[in-house]
Amino acid sequence: MSFDRNIKIAPSILAADFANFGAECQAIEAQGADWVHVDVMDGHFVPNISFGPATCAAIRPHIKTVMDVHLMISPVDPYIEAFAQAGADFITAHIEATPHTHRTLQAIRGSGAKAGVALNPGTPADAIEHLLDLTDLVCVMTVNPGFGGQKFIDMTSKIRRLRDMIGDRPIHIEIDGGVDPKTAPLVAQAGADVLVAGSAAFRGGSVSNPAPYGENIRQIRAAAEGVWV
Ligand code: DX5
Ligand code: ZN
Repeated sequence: MSFDRNIKIAPSILAADFANFGAECQAIEAQGADWVHVDVMDGHFVPNISFGPATCAAIRPHIKTVMDVHLMISPVDPYIEAFAQAGADFITAHIEATPHTHRTLQAIRGSGAKAGVALNPGTPADAIEHLLDLTDLVCVMTVNPGFGGQKFIDMTSKIRRLRDMIGDRPIHIEIDGGVDPKTAPLVAQAGADVLVAGSAAFRGGSVSNPAPYGENIRQIRAAAEGVWV
């Protein structure tokens, strides 16, 4: 997988039909998704439960692009191998969920996956200063994790600070929460390249009527790239 800073839209299947994940992944990719974002929640680190590694393994054959697994679980370390075995390309852990984040990122890379670290809205950019050499992706949460469809929290100053800290290193900046055509330009201008979108990507469409997915993705991408449609 080669590195670039082009805008990538990563729809979150948290907003898809849970009874139809395979077909939903195929539909969203056919409609222009660059990555597929997979939100794993444990009812402990966050107040909601979604699904685990068995579901990730089941949907993997239906994803041709990048499977981007966002772990909102604590502890993290005992489950890394299971998500790597399930076929995750990126495994992202929250810095707030794992006391030895340095070890966790090493373990993720050791499993063969790319290592991501996520920051809740209240966590400063500087918290990951000493982790950058072990990091392939920084996920800046623009909502408090746990649910889709929440209101965007402005984190542009944090994104700018991270962009400066990262410099030339091949580290993605991903934004997660409340991304839509209005908020996408703010985060893209600040330096983000991966935009997760749940409700704004899946709104109005379905497996039997997937065209709205494509229109939603096009609008978010065009807004992020500076062209309003
Ligand atoms: C929040 C999740 C997000 C969320 C995004 O805990 O990590 O990925 O599903 O959904 P929207 O785009 O609806 O805010
Ligand atoms: Zn997420």
